[in-house]
Amino acid sequence: VGMLATSLPVTLAACQSEPPTADAPPTTGGGTDAPAIDDTPREDGFAAIGTVAQLDEAGFISDKTFQGEQVLVVRDPANADSLIAVNSLCTHQGCSVDWEGGGDFTCACHGSAFAPDGSVKAGPATDPLGKFTAQIDGDLVLVKVS
Ligand code: FES
Repeated sequence: VGMLATSLPVTLAACQSEPPTADAPPTTGGGTDAPAIDDTPREDGFAAIGTVAQLDEAGFISDKTFQGEQVLVVRDPANADSLIAVNSLCTHQGCSVDWEGGGDFTCACHGSAFAPDGSVKAGPATDPLGKFTAQIDGDLVLVKVS
């Protein structure tokens, strides 16, 4: 019994998964073979979160560690030439919202829904999603988080 007790902490430690790294690549649904991009913030505060090709292939770009923020970028359903970037942290209890291609951000945890402008369409959330400024520059999707 003593031997089992002494080996237990090692077994438990071995079962724990690795925490996500700060350099985890953005999620676009397009696989992990996307080329790396320079996400160093520029002088104007914008930084590249992905490419236009990634955005259009998956319909969104999501990065939960982008410049210290949880960012989800989509094309504006009302004007495909402009972008919408929100903080994907649900304002109810902090789950991540997803983009529904039809034009809403939805939270699977308790069913909240948010319009493209971040406003609440359905509770239990009562506060809008945080928003960031996003733009396209050449073939890059840029987001300014502060
Ligand atoms: Fe999103 Fe509850 S955390 S609806």
